[in-house]
Order: sequence, then structure tokens, then C-alpha cells
Amino acid sequence: MGSDFGCRDGSEELGWKISTGVFHRSKFLVACLVGAGVTAASVLAIRFGGDKFSSLSSQFLMKNKKPVRVYMDGCFDMMHYGHCNALRQARALGDQLVVGVMSDAEIIANKGPPVTPLNERLLMVGAVKWVDEVIPDAPYAITEEFMHKLFDEYNIDYIIHGDDPCLLPDGTDAYALAKKAGRYKQIKRTEGVSSTDIVGRMLLCVRERSTAENPKQSSLQRQFSHGSQKVEDGVSGSETRVSHFLPTSRRIVQFSNGKGPGHDARIVYIDGAFDLFHAGHVEILRLARELGDFLLVGIHSDQTISSTRGAHRPIMNLHERSLSVLACRYVDEVIIGAPWEVSKDMITTFNISLVVHGTVAENREVEKWDSNPYVVPNEMEIHRQLESPLDITTSTIIKRIVSNHEAFQKRNEKKEASERRYYNNKTHVVGD
Ligand SMILES: *[C@@H]1O[C@H](CO)[C@@H](O)[C@H](O)[C@H]1NC(C)=O
Ligand SMILES: *[C@@H]1O[C@H](CO)[C@@H](O)[C@H](O)[C@H]1NC(C)=O
Repeated sequence: MGSDFGCRDGSEELGWKISTGVFHRSKFLVACLVGAGVTAASVLAIRFGGDKFSSLSSQFLMKNKKPVRVYMDGCFDMMHYGHCNALRQARALGDQLVVGVMSDAEIIANKGPPVTPLNERLLMVGAVKWVDEVIPDAPYAITEEFMHKLFDEYNIDYIIHGDDPCLLPDGTDAYALAKKAGRYKQIKRTEGVSSTDIVGRMLLCVRERSTAENPKQSSLQRQFSHGSQKVEDGVSGSETRVSHFLPTSRRIVQFSNGKGPGHDARIVYIDGAFDLFHAGHVEILRLARELGDFLLVGIHSDQTISSTRGAHRPIMNLHERSLSVLACRYVDEVIIGAPWEVSKDMITTFNISLVVHGTVAENREVEKWDSNPYVVPNEMEIHRQLESPLDITTSTIIKRIVSNHEAFQKRNEKKEASERRYYNNKTHVVGD
């Protein structure tokens, strides 16, 4: 670690740094400095141009009251839009969100090896637009000592967790101490997605591939990943897996920036499947965003992906993939169901200045494509290939799961049973 998270152009939105084990987004450094008190005057002098101090200090009191800082922790292994939604809800309970990510060793000690190594999990969490700081070595259990560290060193006001019970190995409530201290707030769990469900989809996808593109199974997979229909998984026996995700326009709006490009903005376009959104995606989006002022991401439809990558893909449907991409801080706007070919009309409509794609992709050999999607931008000489910083694809993620097939299946079955109990017994809960 110790790497810089972008911000080479000094752009406020993209500024991420690791300092003394904590990531800071530069936009909030100002607020942190103000919070530190001593430096408040000089910060305000920079901001307001060194006017009379008395008027400044009243402005300081009015405008810059101490921000409410909230803390949420997790493994963020196999991160999905449900985690992003939890982070969004947590951030809404305060002004600044600090996220504790557990180390690999801590996860191994408490629940077995993670699928995603810490460096990738940090990239993923740090790229979520509602996250202000990351603590890269959070403990699995919030001990009294760590809780006081959060309150005293990190200036945390509240510790946040979902409404699902979280028990320590000894059967006690993991958040009991924070609750007792009156510094605990709860958010509603995100319906419709869980890592268990996604692992299930991957296992099904692999099994399906091994049964040589059986058309009946393909349609089963499609139903499974695209609808809320009950699907009997005949291969493994008695399990029933259900995708509970119900895409609403409201959720899309909550995730969206709701802002168009500014005047004279240089618009960069990148397209792809963005299936099982991962650290490789985050890194190429960061590079793409650095080349302009506004990043427009084209997300291919489920049909387009099935036709280029096989009937077992995508694992995540178009709406789910759109949410994951929208949650990324480097992304300004998405096209939900972008065409395979980048047309002249599209370039004109969105005033696209540059079309980019990464060197690492699942179907990277241009010759193998039935049609090169970049013919028009090539002719216009606005097409550029970017060196992908990480060599990770959706297949890499699936392989990680499959290579641990048995262990995950076991872990999954247990969790699935408790998921089933949750859904069978669930009642309406008010909230987002
Ligand atoms: C289109 O993009 C260019 C930058 O590439 C910018 O100079 C121009 O102002 C944009 N046009 C409009 C109408 O915003
Ligand atoms: C279902 O919910 C009720 C009431 O909240 C609770 O008493 C019961 O234990 C729950 N059952 C299961 C199987 O979780």
C-alpha cells in the first residue's frame, strides 16, 4: 500500500490518499482541518480570502459546525450493490462516512479465507462515492478499546450497522457496547441481493457450462438471474434459489449523481459488461475519468453480453450492473443498455470527445469480434486503448469462487438456510 488513489490532476472529487493508514478524500480534508480547531482560521483565510476574523468566525460557527462522522465496518468480500446501498444509507446518517475494512488475517481467523484480497477490497470500498475515509485494518469485533479509538482518534459520533443481528463467536451482540454508549444507529438491510445469492449464481453458471450449453438450463439461468421467479435448482438437489432484487426507478435515482456535464466539459466514453463489478473495473474507470471532465459509461444489455460471452452470462443483470457502476465515484453517468457499436449518432448526442477501452477484457481479440464496435471512433481518431492497471476479469472472480467450490458450497448452504428463513418470515420494514 501507500499508493495514491488518482487525483493526479488535483481534482477535488477524485482526491484520495492514504496517510497514516487512513484514506482521505481531499474535499473533506478542509472539514477535518476545521474540526481540528487550531487551523480553522488559516483554512478560512484561504477559503474566504482573509477578511476580518470576527465575521469569519461567525461564519465558521454557522457554516462549519463540526461534521457528524459515522463509522461502518465489514469484510466487503465479494462486494455488490447491496453493500454500496448500505454505505449510502450510513452516509445519510451523518456528514462523513468512515469505513473499517477487515484485514485478510482477521477474516481468516473469524470466518475462513476471503475470496478477494485486501488490496482489492480497499480499492472497491474506497471507490464508492459515499465513502470519505477508509480504515484498512479494522478488527472483526468492536472491542471496548477499538470503540474508544473510534470515538477519540477518528472522532466518530455513531457506529452504524444493518438490521440483521450480528453475533460474535461467543453468541453476544457485536454492537452491544456501542448501543450501551448510545452511539449506535441502524440501517435497513438491502433487499434482494446477498453474496450468498451471487455465489449461488456463479456455481450454477459453472455447472451449466459443464452440461454443454443445455438450452433448457440456459433459460433456467436466465430466469434465475433476471427475474424474481422461483427456480428449482435440480442439479444440487433440494435447494431453491430466488433472486429477490426488484429494480425500482427510485433506487436508480438514489445512486445517480443527477447532474449533467458542465459547459465545455470534455466527455469520455467507456463501455462494457461490468459484470461482477471488481477492482479491475474501478481502476480502468479511474484512468478513463482522468482523461476528461465527465465519464459516461455504456453498460451493455444482457442480450448483448449473452451473445458475445455465452448464455451463462451475465451473472448480474443490467439493473444490478448499472447500480454497481453508478456507485463508483469516477462515474458521472451511465447508459443503461448501451449499443455494442459506438455510433456517430451516439457521439454527437452525448458530445463524446474520447472513446476508451482497457487492454484487459474477456474478449480482447478484436479480430474475433463479429463487428468491431469502435470503427466510427477510430475513423474520427477519438479512440484510445488504455493499459488496464489490473489483470482481473469477471472470469477471474468466478474462478476464485470455483477453485474454492466445496468450501463455498458448505458456507453457502448454511447461509442459504438462514437467508431462506429470513425471507419466509420477513415483514414490511419502513426505510430505504
Ligand atoms: C462538446 O465538447 C467539447 C470538448 O470536447 C466542448 O468544448 C464543447 O463546448 C462541448 N459542446 C457543448 C455544446 O457543450
Ligand atoms: C418469525 O418472526 C417472529 C416474530 O417476529 C419470531 O417470533 C419468530 O421466531 C420468527 N421465526 C423464524 C423462523 O425466524
